[in-house]
Amino acid sequence: MPGSESRYGAYLETRERDGLRRGLTAIEARDARTIRIGADTYLNFAGNDYLALRFHPALINRAEAWAEEHGVGSGASRLVTGNLDLFAGIEAKVAALKQKPAALIMASGFQANASVLQALFDRNVLGAEPLVFSDRLNHASIHFGCAASGAREIRYRHCDAAHLGVLLSQYQGDQRPKFILTESVFSMDGDIAPLAEIGRLAREHDAMLIVDDAHATGIMGEGGCGLSGEANIVIGTFSKALGGFGAYVACSDILRDYLINRCTGLIYSTALPPPVLGAIDAALDLILSLDAERAHVASLAERFRAGARALGFDTGASTTQIVPLIAGTNHAALSLSKRLRDAGYFVTAIRPPTVPVGTARLRFAFTAAQTASDVDGLLDALDDRALPRSATA
Ligand SMILES: Cc1ncc(COP(=O)(O)O)c(C=O)c1O
Repeated sequence: MPGSESRYGAYLETRERDGLRRGLTAIEARDARTIRIGADTYLNFAGNDYLALRFHPALINRAEAWAEEHGVGSGASRLVTGNLDLFAGIEAKVAALKQKPAALIMASGFQANASVLQALFDRNVLGAEPLVFSDRLNHASIHFGCAASGAREIRYRHCDAAHLGVLLSQYQGDQRPKFILTESVFSMDGDIAPLAEIGRLAREHDAMLIVDDAHATGIMGEGGCGLSGEANIVIGTFSKALGGFGAYVACSDILRDYLINRCTGLIYSTALPPPVLGAIDAALDLILSLDAERAHVASLAERFRAGARALGFDTGASTTQIVPLIAGTNHAALSLSKRLRDAGYFVTAIRPPTVPVGTARLRFAFTAAQTASDVDGLLDALDDRALPRSATA
């Protein structure tokens, strides 16, 4: 065994000691509300399937139909022979949803951010190193895409448009191309970027605004269109409220063509398979009519926030279907997660580097499959004064 292997082992031991070691828990899921681990059933408050579409018959039927008709794989990258005619219809639906001239389907949200940003920030194409202003709590895939391009991120304080304005002003008159990067709904905080303000700053400073709408698409905005209205480029995923897998970029025709020519994640990766495209296509049809589900999810999250705050928990600045309970230390977050697990609730402890040091938390996500009494049971389990009881009884 090469000597370097022992170094990886030592790294894992350090992670263990610091309460930072991660592991994969094998689960079984047969519906959108619960998961099973071995013989035990838990209510799932940890997933991103906000509209509970993973098990929706419309998605399953179209996935099955498209697998039957078009096969289970696409056979090549989109630039070789993988560009099935199915893509055009889906891209038209995404462009309409996002009110942009064009859209491009990509393999996953991570891959889209990693490779689209790398392509956009190419200094040879731009003629200069770009100035990339980025919310410091942006998703790892956004930071990854910036790093891959070699562009230095100029990070502004989380959701702080005033700070962004100050940083932009420092570069007033600088002719290098400017970009602003933000999520709309932040994945670990459940708060919303001040997009109107950020959009105004982008126009004022001639910056291109790129919004990752992963956690808003399907679940927020008119007909589930998300919150990215002001953006020049919207990146998002079908893996959360749309219940499936895959990602999109919505943008101008020129940018779409540029990405087809320059985006490594599109060029060097096999196209999404037909059953996955079928599920995406059905979800895009369905979300337009799911206002009642969106309202239900918002009311569950609000019920939980109010209850958790009354119990003395810190729910940060969340206003959406994602609600953190900020525990502070890694061990505090892990023990709270275990306490809930013992009471029948599955909620993951989120620790650094996913969140800043000292802000380890439980991340609760509310979905259309849950009920108000599920939330009340969860709040009972969080209350030290109450005895744990079975969640699914
Ligand atoms: C803001 C954000 N962008 C991108 C991604 C990646 O999306 P995907 O899971 O489709 O790779 C995620 C979730 O993991 C996310 O939270």
